Amino acid sequence: MKRRNFIKNASLSGVGLAIGTSLTNCAEKAPIKNEKIIASSEKASLPLVIATWNFPNATTKAWETFQEGKSALDAVEQGCKVEEADLNNTTVGNGASPDRDGNVTLDSCIMNSKGDCGSVVYLQNITHAISVARKVMEDTPHVMLAGKGAEQFAYESGFKKEDLLTESSKKAWEEWKVKSEYKPIINIENHDTIGMLAVDKNGDICGACTTSGLAYKMAGRVGDSPIIGAGLFVDNEIGAAVATGLGEEVMKTVGSFLVVELMRQGKSPQEACEEAIKRIVSKPNSNYKNFQVGYIAVNKKGETGSYSIHKNFSMSKFQDGKNTNTQSDYFIKEEK
Ligand code: GLY
Repeated sequence: MKRRNFIKNASLSGVGLAIGTSLTNCAEKAPIKNEKIIASSEKASLPLVIATWNFPNATTKAWETFQEGKSALDAVEQGCKVEEADLNNTTVGNGASPDRDGNVTLDSCIMNSKGDCGSVVYLQNITHAISVARKVMEDTPHVMLAGKGAEQFAYESGFKKEDLLTESSKKAWEEWKVKSEYKPIINIENHDTIGMLAVDKNGDICGACTTSGLAYKMAGRVGDSPIIGAGLFVDNEIGAAVATGLGEEVMKTVGSFLVVELMRQGKSPQEACEEAIKRIVSKPNSNYKNFQVGYIAVNKKGETGSYSIHKNFSMSKFQDGKNTNTQSDYFIKEEK
């Protein structure tokens, strides 16, 4: 069954209500004819791929997928699959850290340049959550499938059941259980999400993100990564953004949608990422010193940006045949 094409209008109107006031105020001052902004300057070299953190194997795979003549959607899916299959990556896919009950549960979403999206939430026993999310987008009338329903759909779609808890993840969880202290670890040691954005040679943009979420989270906990608009948002007229870090804080500010809307109002990807982080840290009673959030973004011209609360967040980029990883600028400058 092919999915109905009803998503774009529904998602835009719903989320728009949540942050409508500030966007309306800004929009009065900023140009809203984005085609004019975009047409006024040259495009960066395309295609390009960016990803959260230092994932050179993933961006290389995405680049190779482009070289095979495949789409930006194929590129982000193939790139994310590299990390999902890596047993040494304890934050994504097979080998990921479990929740506090010892169950590995995955969250993932994908979005194409037409505004279609698919998502899986709390998926167990399947390595490639990102591919199941793509199947939800392409083969069902829905955007999001959760838990047992998502798992059942995956089996019906040909995915194999696997035990995702490796010996080393199990051992680490058993050690954690001795004290059972839950505390979001700030940074690269728990870099929790691969988010990837790709722009093809025509300037069409797709995005994906996949994660096991926070290590030793409460059973049933879902983060930002499968939530369209929070963990990921693509608007092919404007650009795209993807988030990493403490998902609860990203969800509270509808972060990726916010970054894209700020770009719509004329901000560069860098400025938009910075403003979205400032929305988090400027909230009353925010304890931002104790958690990390980072965004990466790309606009229609292929300009990119990244920003985080704490240092040590980075963005990987594959462009012009070269793979780079660049430390992102960050909010708390006084940190050593
Ligand atoms: N950003 C991933 C999570 O919070 O689950």
